[in-house]
Amino acid sequence: NNQFEGRSFLKEIDYTPTELAYLIDFASHLKTLKAHHIPHPYLQGKNIALLFEKTSTRTRSAFTVAANDLGAKPEFLGKDDIQFGTKESVVDTAKVLGSMYDGIEFRGFKQSTVEDLATYSGVPVWNGLTDDWHPTQILADFLTLKEHFGHLKGLTLAYVGDGRNNMANSLLVAGAMLGINMAIGAPAALQPASEIVALAQQYAQAAGSTVVITADPQQAVTQADALYTDVWVSMGEQVDYGARIKQLLPFQIDAALLAATGKSSTIVMHCLPALHDLKTQLGAKLGKQYGMTAFEITDDIFQSKQSVVFEEASNRMPAIKAVMAATLGNLFIPTSIFN
Ligand code: CP
Ligand code: NVA
Repeated sequence: NNQFEGRSFLKEIDYTPTELAYLIDFASHLKTLKAHHIPHPYLQGKNIALLFEKTSTRTRSAFTVAANDLGAKPEFLGKDDIQFGTKESVVDTAKVLGSMYDGIEFRGFKQSTVEDLATYSGVPVWNGLTDDWHPTQILADFLTLKEHFGHLKGLTLAYVGDGRNNMANSLLVAGAMLGINMAIGAPAALQPASEIVALAQQYAQAAGSTVVITADPQQAVTQADALYTDVWVSMGEQVDYGARIKQLLPFQIDAALLAATGKSSTIVMHCLPALHDLKTQLGAKLGKQYGMTAFEITDDIFQSKQSVVFEEASNRMPAIKAVMAATLGNLFIPTSIFN
């Protein structure tokens, strides 16, 4: 009676485009329930493990609050708190956690780790970010887009900056799945892998949307309804910051790039965190050198009316709540709506 029941959410393509669209609408519904103080304890009596190899503010908080709102009990298991990673294998950890918890969130490095957790735990596993994908972020981002524009199909989203990271992968493929015209503006060395582009093209063809990959930032943003960027150096990446900044500087979202969309209605998005710590550390050196106050996005645009970055962040909670409730909540979701 519920086609999500018992399933994991490891990457966007685990679901059909219609299922993704359903989760976005379900998130919106759960957001309304909370706003009206209507209880929705779909996970009453359940226990949820929150496993983190990498740090987090939004994802950790969203899973914690969503679990509490759903009547479940979340338990944070940081990499320094448990045996995982140093003394115990992924497989053994998965079996133990699966024998006690009803669902597991994982954030970390390898996609294979979250896949193994799902295979060996026997309970639903949700990807809270890996090096390859950030699927719960995408649900929140597209909920934000839909709230703003009223629909998703036919919108144009341009992502500029590091085109080879988890956010670029997830936006490109999931955007194409949902019929959003996707553009990635990144230097050749930081453009998405060819298999990711091929996957996006395949979905775009089915949805009737377009995929553009270009090294020209102005071309990338032309006619964009939303401009999106992410940190220039992702968690766990070992790169020369100075070289990366130099490489990506032409892709910084500033007033000129925003104007280059040719639309006054364009909104600006960022999954956060923004590179604020670099502003104080490296930025003290490099910021002066390059004559700017921020890296991937300038402060005036980050703070502007067109920026929806904090709406996106707050939407992480209902989005994650929707995924947990749909996969673990014994809900009645008629399959007829997917036909
Ligand atoms: N956007 C996001 O995933 O933020 P955190 O790293 O704070 O969880
Ligand atoms: N690409 C970033 C996203 C953070 C939410 C990272 O992986 O660090």
